[in-house]
Order: sequence, then C-alpha cells, then structure tokens
Amino acid sequence: MGKDKNAAPHIQMEEKKYKILMVCLGNICRSPAAEGVMQRLVEERGVSQLFEIDSAGTYGGHSGQLPDPRMRRHASRRGYNLTHRARRITGYDMGDFDMIVAMDDANRADLERLARTPEEVQKIVMIGKYITTNPHYDYVPDPYYEGSEGFELALDLLEDACGQLLDEILTNRLKTNN
Ligand code: 4NP
Repeated sequence: MGKDKNAAPHIQMEEKKYKILMVCLGNICRSPAAEGVMQRLVEERGVSQLFEIDSAGTYGGHSGQLPDPRMRRHASRRGYNLTHRARRITGYDMGDFDMIVAMDDANRADLERLARTPEEVQKIVMIGKYITTNPHYDYVPDPYYEGSEGFELALDLLEDACGQLLDEILTNRLKTNN
C-alpha cells in the first residue's frame, strides 16, 4: 500500500499552554485548593487544553504532603478531589509560569524577593484583586490555625476569585474563539 500523495501532511500544532501557579505559605491549604478550583473551572468552561495549573508554597516544611486533611474534607464536600503534593516554589518557577498568584501580602513579598527580573515581578498577581462577593477581604486568609469556618471562607473566596481571574485571562491575556 502506497502513501496517499494527496493526504495533507500531519502537522502537530503545539499550542503553548498558559501556565498558572497558585502560591501560599505551606502549599497544603489555600494554594492546592486554588489549584483544584481553577482546574475545575477551566474544565467546566471547556478550555482546559489551554491551561496548565499548579501550586507551590514559599515555605518547604510540608513538601511531599497531601493537602491538609481539613482542607481535603471541606473541598470534597464541594466536589473537589485535592491530590496535589506540596512543594516549595523555586526560582525556575518564576521564569517558567506565565502568572503567579499570591494568596496574601506575605506571599507576595516572598515572591518579589524570589523574582530575578522585572518581567518575573510582573507575573505576580494578588488573588484578592479578584474577590467580588466579600467586601471584608482583599486576600485569602490562612485557615491553618482556624476552625471549619476558616476553611469554608477560604473556599468561598477562592471560588469567587478564581472565576473572576479566569474571565480576565480569557478576555485579556488569551486569544480564544469563545
Ligand atoms: P497554607 O496554610 O499556606 O494555606 O498552606 C499553612 C500551612 C502550614 C503552615 C502555615 C500555613 N505552617 O505553619 O506549617
């Protein structure tokens, strides 16, 4: 069997994915939850093939651990299965990701110290900028030393903010046919 000379050459179009890194302190509560929330949002909107979403912490003391059992429990009630393994952010991440999302001001300050160029500083975004439903917060507070309400609050804020952030990315940073 000869090859069909008229067949169009098979061209593999390599779409570069838009890479988002969610960052908190320990990478066991807020940022793995943010990763799970954003991953579900891109799937629900049919744009998951355009994105790569990950999370990391500025502190490496929990490296290798699954998310905190309390966060996994609260998240699973909303249908999120959080299986990320904690890791500490590296200088390489600052170059590799397109957007680096800080949960609070301390995370942002740590990220600014890690950035090596003005372009890397530009990648840092505060999640609080995208909170629309709760006027009391312009950051996602650390639930680690809190009770159930702290975990519910973090998830409420993240579901709101990640939806707004994804809208902003799809509208202003990615050219899509949507
Ligand atoms: P996260 O929460 O930054 O949302 O993952 C924390 C987890 C661990 C610690 C602090 C905050 N810690 O001190 O070990």
